[in-house]
Amino acid sequence: MTHPALSDDPNWWRQAAIYQIYPRSFKDSDGDGLGDIRGITSKVDYLASLNLDAVWLSPFYPSALADGGYDVAHYRDVDPRLGTLADFDEMVAALHEAGIRVFVDIVPNHSSNLHEWFQEALASEPGSPARDRYIFRDGLGENGELPPSDWPSHFAPSAWTRTTNSDGTPGQWYLHLFAPEQPDFNWDNPEVHEDFLKTLRFWSDRGVDGFRVDVAHALKKDLSEPFRSKPVFIDFDNPLTGDDVLFDRNDVHDIYRQWRKVFEEYTPPRVAVAEAWVRAERRVLYARPDELGQAFNFDLLLADFDASQFKRIITDNIALAKTEGSSSTWVLSNHDRVRHATKYGLPAGYDLREWLLSNGTKLEVNYVQGLARARAATLLMLALPGSCYLYQGEELGLFEAADIPVDQLQDPIWERNHHTDKGRDGCRVPLPWTADGMSFGFSDGVAHLPQPETFADFAVSSQDGHEGSTLELYRVALGLRRELQSTEDYEWLESPHSGILHFSRANGWQSMTNFGGTAVPLPEAQILLSSSPLVDGLLPEGTTVWLKVER
Ligand code: GLC
Repeated sequence: MTHPALSDDPNWWRQAAIYQIYPRSFKDSDGDGLGDIRGITSKVDYLASLNLDAVWLSPFYPSALADGGYDVAHYRDVDPRLGTLADFDEMVAALHEAGIRVFVDIVPNHSSNLHEWFQEALASEPGSPARDRYIFRDGLGENGELPPSDWPSHFAPSAWTRTTNSDGTPGQWYLHLFAPEQPDFNWDNPEVHEDFLKTLRFWSDRGVDGFRVDVAHALKKDLSEPFRSKPVFIDFDNPLTGDDVLFDRNDVHDIYRQWRKVFEEYTPPRVAVAEAWVRAERRVLYARPDELGQAFNFDLLLADFDASQFKRIITDNIALAKTEGSSSTWVLSNHDRVRHATKYGLPAGYDLREWLLSNGTKLEVNYVQGLARARAATLLMLALPGSCYLYQGEELGLFEAADIPVDQLQDPIWERNHHTDKGRDGCRVPLPWTADGMSFGFSDGVAHLPQPETFADFAVSSQDGHEGSTLELYRVALGLRRELQSTEDYEWLESPHSGILHFSRANGWQSMTNFGGTAVPLPEAQILLSSSPLVDGLLPEGTTVWLKVER
């Protein structure tokens, strides 16, 4: 196979296809049931066959896995269970050789409680410089027995945990917006800034091309006392003033302006994408050219399969990204959300948490509809200007594994919510590479999360070379996208039918999706690709077609 060389174009990221690898569940090379770095290297040809521009690796750093690796014990190393730095270098070289760039995940809001700085902080006195790298405070109440504020943790309940002094007496409390094993850094401390600059350079020097910045909106907090109240979190509840207690504060942007200077030390400049759960109007601020450059837009991932929702989201996000000189990003699935094939196979707005809690028995997924719509949504997304972030396994049409036995769940959400939320393991199940054999070819050992029997039908070996399979659809679509894509322009085209989204890109490329209702006729054009077969020449419900119109 011949591969495209990496271009020197500093704008390569503006319309890229980036594939998220969840390393522990991608491919295991040594039989311990955990995916690893050499596993990824062994699948470079597969990744190249998808016609990707880049891969993004979720954390592979040393970690006790209290939160799937988002509890980082060492930022400049590889978890020994996943390999070594030499393995990492080999992987980057192989990916680059195949024309694929590499993003790594940077987790700057919090470390693991096993990080040497946190261990040092615990062993140090209140008020010491070691404690100042994190957020330690005395408790309220007569004996400091109450948490310093009412701030909740994302993984519930309180964001504060009390420490125990070396003599066994109860000590100060520390802040963790996620699990207690994930203490938040104090970004008012210059040492924290310095250390992350060092980490960015460390990976950039090893050839890493980009960074995905975890919870980018949370680093700066209003730590003036008495603490302001924030009794609940609601997605996107920030009031757009930049003065929230915990999220999306205006001063967080100073950090990213500093990071940008590091990115510009390299040729081509390193790139980044912010994970910022804030409203679209504020999200684009993280994507400014002198900051991270791009920000995840999760609006499609949160939307129903609905033409008017999609149209509004697309129109608004492309326009908003432009105002700040960026391009939009698009995401339908990731390691934190129920897979989109499952979501679209359930009624719009359905309570997915409840459904998972019933092990998927509460309502049967309409698999045919779910997969058809997932393929249609993907094809639509891939025709949009901007960058698309794909999540491993979506190219196989994988569904959520809803029935993982509760004693095998790994996500801290399960325990911390007192067994009322099964969490995110269902989308993190190891990939099926072969239709049979141990762990469906993922590992020679037992996979770290159980794989559903139905994975046999979705395995790479079951789809490879099969025309019409989801895998082949992704390959062809991503290849065509690469050929067809030029400017970032697009234009909505009117349709006389309801539930249709039809738009054009440069050079006569068009995409048309039927979100519901009856099958509709297509305009006079060459049919390039269709997410499902046409019916008597008509575009049926839950289908996207790409067209080429000669001018
Ligand atoms: C991000 C990650 C998620 C993780 C959290 C805490 O939202 O995507 O998986 O649990 O940050 O690091």
